[in-house]
Amino acid sequence: MAGAGMKNYLSSRWTIFLCLLTVLCSLFTPAVSVKENDFKKCHQSGFCKRNRAYADNAAALGSSWKTPYKISPELASFKDGQFQATIIKTIDEQGNTVQLPLTVSFLKSGTARVSVDEKKRQEKDIELRHNSKARKERYNEAEKWAIVGGLDIDTDAKVSHESKTDIKIQYGPNSAFEAHITYEPYSIEFKRDGATQIKLNDRGLMNLEHWRPRIEKPTPEKKEGEESQEEKKEETPEVSPLEDDSTWWDEAFGGNTDSKPRGPESVALDITFFGYEHVYGIPEHAGPLSLKETRGGEGNYAEPYRLYNSDVFEYILDSPMTLYGAIPFMQAQRKDSTVGVFWLNAAETWIDITRAKESKNPLALGASPKTNTQTHWISENGLMDVFVFLGPTPRDITKSYAELTGTTALPQEFSLGYHQCRWNYVSDDDVKEVDRKMDRYHIPYDVIWLDIEYTDDKKYFTWDKDMFKDPISMGKHLDNHGRKLVTIIDPHIKNVGGYHVSEELKSKGLAVKNKDGNDFDGWCWPGSSHWIDAFNPAAIKWWTSLFKYDAFKGTMENTFIWNDMNEPSVFNGPEVTMPKDNLHYGDWEHRDVHNINGMTFHNATYEALLSRKKGELRRPFILTRSFYAGSQRLGAMWTGDNQASWEHLAASIPMVLAQGISGFPFAGADVGGFFGNPELELQSRWFQAGAFYPFFRGHAHIDARRREPFLLAEPYRSIITSALRLRYSLLPSWYTAFYHANRDGSPIIRPLYWTHPSEEGGFGIDDQFFVGSTGLLVKPIVEKEKTSTDIYIPDGEVYYDYFNYKKLPTSKGKRLTVNAPLEAIPILIQGGHIFPRRDTPRRSSQLMKFDDYTLVVAVGNNGEAEGELYVDDGDSFDYEKDQYIHRTFKLEGSTLTSTDAESRDTKKIKEGDWLKKMRNVAVDKIIVVGAPSSWANKKEVVVESEGNKASVPLTYHKADGNRGAFAVIGRVGAKIGADWSVSFA
Ligand code: GLC
Repeated sequence: MAGAGMKNYLSSRWTIFLCLLTVLCSLFTPAVSVKENDFKKCHQSGFCKRNRAYADNAAALGSSWKTPYKISPELASFKDGQFQATIIKTIDEQGNTVQLPLTVSFLKSGTARVSVDEKKRQEKDIELRHNSKARKERYNEAEKWAIVGGLDIDTDAKVSHESKTDIKIQYGPNSAFEAHITYEPYSIEFKRDGATQIKLNDRGLMNLEHWRPRIEKPTPEKKEGEESQEEKKEETPEVSPLEDDSTWWDEAFGGNTDSKPRGPESVALDITFFGYEHVYGIPEHAGPLSLKETRGGEGNYAEPYRLYNSDVFEYILDSPMTLYGAIPFMQAQRKDSTVGVFWLNAAETWIDITRAKESKNPLALGASPKTNTQTHWISENGLMDVFVFLGPTPRDITKSYAELTGTTALPQEFSLGYHQCRWNYVSDDDVKEVDRKMDRYHIPYDVIWLDIEYTDDKKYFTWDKDMFKDPISMGKHLDNHGRKLVTIIDPHIKNVGGYHVSEELKSKGLAVKNKDGNDFDGWCWPGSSHWIDAFNPAAIKWWTSLFKYDAFKGTMENTFIWNDMNEPSVFNGPEVTMPKDNLHYGDWEHRDVHNINGMTFHNATYEALLSRKKGELRRPFILTRSFYAGSQRLGAMWTGDNQASWEHLAASIPMVLAQGISGFPFAGADVGGFFGNPELELQSRWFQAGAFYPFFRGHAHIDARRREPFLLAEPYRSIITSALRLRYSLLPSWYTAFYHANRDGSPIIRPLYWTHPSEEGGFGIDDQFFVGSTGLLVKPIVEKEKTSTDIYIPDGEVYYDYFNYKKLPTSKGKRLTVNAPLEAIPILIQGGHIFPRRDTPRRSSQLMKFDDYTLVVAVGNNGEAEGELYVDDGDSFDYEKDQYIHRTFKLEGSTLTSTDAESRDTKKIKEGDWLKKMRNVAVDKIIVVGAPSSWANKKEVVVESEGNKASVPLTYHKADGNRGAFAVIGRVGAKIGADWSVSFA
């Protein structure tokens, strides 16, 4: 004991020394990158190391490797869309086995689900060590948090072949999908139209670490002068990782020891995508959209992609290292085919990716061998629960995944505007002053944010009374021009007497517990803190009470919330988070639920904002840093603590695209970069890029210089103001894109593989994208002193320059060089689209709510164009009661029409206040880009609407050196919500 005491003493002295050193270093060194060593590499994570070793061993044995998993045919059955069986795992040379119940469910959406549990743990027939109170089962509640639908079973799925050794089940649209389950060795091959797409356990790397009792090895007594066991261990030659049980029963890292009461329990599986060279998804990582190989070799990573939500301070780029959020959803792409898998597991997860050419078939003359992408999924524990999507299009995959995990909540309309944040606006006067200055310089914005310093000593739900003397007057000041306030509320609750939130948290027993069942105490911004356990329904209820206007005093209807540090970040915890043996509601270990933790906190706040006041039902807006599959239902995310560097600006584009294709598209990066001070050119370029992030917020670290747009010298201020105005004018198109995200999970900004799945040339491109279905193709400039760029053109449609309407000399599959001096953003309009804008510049989106619209019509190759507008009150849930306008615009022949996009009889809709007001909102202007030269002498067109015909003026502009041909129809006057037509005949 004395020894242990001494060790603690030494280690705490050592900690103090290290802390001092860190403080000193941070005083003298500029922002350096993440302390990589604070986070585990695969070989430092016992289960990852073991499973990689398992894979290496299988590879070394080649064809003589035999997976120990098989299905016993006697117990297998198929009934009502589900195949049930037991996988038998042989665990030793004596032939002992364990039983792993398997269910393969075929869902109506065409998705298949393969779930494997472990009988002994399922029946709680195991013993926990250290008198742990933890649950004995494998964690089986990830579904409860992540899945909201799509689980209906397809009872039309049918057996097409059955034998003692295998079974084939046909399912999906037109029974075009097939699951071929082979019993020994166990594997499942998924086919579409007869061709293999995905195979589980293809390489035989499946590994489910079954429960086993610990066999205590006698500890040899230590004689005087002898080294301790620990000292000896360091010297003993390394055992093969396959036999190494040193991390089965406890595991140390960075001075913390994890007690592991259930011993080793990892789940791993290899999943091969046949003929697919590209895989995407599994955010959050700072790397390319098309994922890299992870087993070394030139240009590859040597580490698997990791998913273990972490507060990674100043993260490094081009890395598979884990970041703040996790979505274990991956898609694979080859020409004309997209497939995917969703690995529903909340524990620490690693994913290895390799590519292999199939050996050439000597009979397939001339055909080049296909490349397969092989993936290896490794989770610390939980069920093995995999959803398989067979496409065939990216849209199909997105939709099926959205059916399971839900879609982006229809946002508060203001939240698509610009958000002005920094750590910190220091007083209510400061906030008002920033607000006034934005107005003085005619810079539009919607929201100003308060970071942690607004509180009284980091006690959330309180105010620093000296600096924020009158928060309500600040709120009202903002509300005068439709602006909002966002305040930060983090999950760590300062552990201090006299603070009502802390006292209630403790007295109600709603905090996360340590392994001994006491309130877990850790270190975060406020110092010693406890954490709300948002897995607990009672905690959610209590949390809700804290946000009532009369509880969180100083806030009003225009206050919204920012949830940060919810990985959770624990400064003195292992890998800056909670010990894995902490306990949550239901006695689940933190290890079971870690990656879902952030989402549960976000969810609690979402619930809270839904009930701030009786009778008030408004859409919440909550930004989160940590997330999981399903977080899209609750708000927006941002990519955390980036740096004011060109590299970070560039990295933000693939990161935001990855979010989009992974079901959580309401995403953005800190504009300007969090750490450091961006040079003016960088800041300007970042605003131009940020104007095309779905979530658009400028933010800066407390040590960074002030950089609000009005502070910048010309021409930078004007350049940034133009980018902001462009964003504001396109808000109707952004909102329509969000509507689609809400309907079927579509990405808001879309990479080329998603929009053009037949164009292989675009599969590796992640620095340009389309905005919703507007046809706007954007490529932000992300390099210093760059004044031109190349845009890849994925199809043979005509493309116009957004700003001068010039028809561009594009051709399919080729790159087009465009000029991009500092004041320009490279944006093309793909022909064939119509998109809505509001062109009157105003201070905030709320002030634009009832402005007239401009429609931009970009005539396509075939002389036609189509587009749409979705708009509602942007605040309430009245859209559920038909209170919205949804139009389809079509240019066909010589007529442009607007009709209800859902063929509703809009006259029958009972109009609420908002719809009534919209009756006065019209289409003011129509710009026809690429207008035919036959219109050159036309002076007017006939607009027909609501039984009236009117002539309105048309101005035709011939193409000249500086611009392309276009026509403007002014003062159209037709109501935006009504049917109308314009005849150009
Ligand atoms: C975290 C957040 C950052 C915030 C800071 C203070 O580092 O990522 O955005 O400003 O905490 O709350």
